[in-house]
Amino acid sequence: MHGRGHNTVAVLFVCLGNICRSPMAEGAFRAAAARRGFECHVDSAGTASYHIGHPPDPRAIATAEANGVTISSQRARQIERNDFYAFTHILAMDSANLVGIRAQAPRDATARIGLFLDAVEGRGGEPIRDPYYGDESDFDAVWQDVTLAADALVERLIRDGVEARF
Ligand code: 4NP
Repeated sequence: MHGRGHNTVAVLFVCLGNICRSPMAEGAFRAAAARRGFECHVDSAGTASYHIGHPPDPRAIATAEANGVTISSQRARQIERNDFYAFTHILAMDSANLVGIRAQAPRDATARIGLFLDAVEGRGGEPIRDPYYGDESDFDAVWQDVTLAADALVERLIRDGVEARF
């Protein structure tokens, strides 16, 4: 992951378990980038270790699939030290994730760390709500929010590249 070109955007989406929100964010962002012909590196991770190696939650897979996006081949991993250098942008789903990411960040981290919904006008500071203990409607709400944020993020990255700030 080191040695990436300076102008190549690399985005890491981060939630708690890396089985619900950030896999959906990754899928929605890949779809949004493909629609705009925007090429960049994309991955997702969790701040916690509970689900390492697991596929996304079946409800997350079903929701993405219902929206034409396949996320079933993703496998959960925990955020690691190298991510803070290899990625240009690390985007948290909620403020607890943001605290977890900052707690693990090396002092000389180069990635810009922010909240995913900060990319959306009028939604700054808002969380992508954790659907883990919820039902199908909560997963649908996550999909709506990650799609909105992904579209906005792609536009910002097309405009500002690695310099994009949120
Ligand atoms: P995620 O959802 O952070 O969106 O992947 C969760 C997944 C697992 C747990 C909590 C939230 N858990 O407590 O195991």
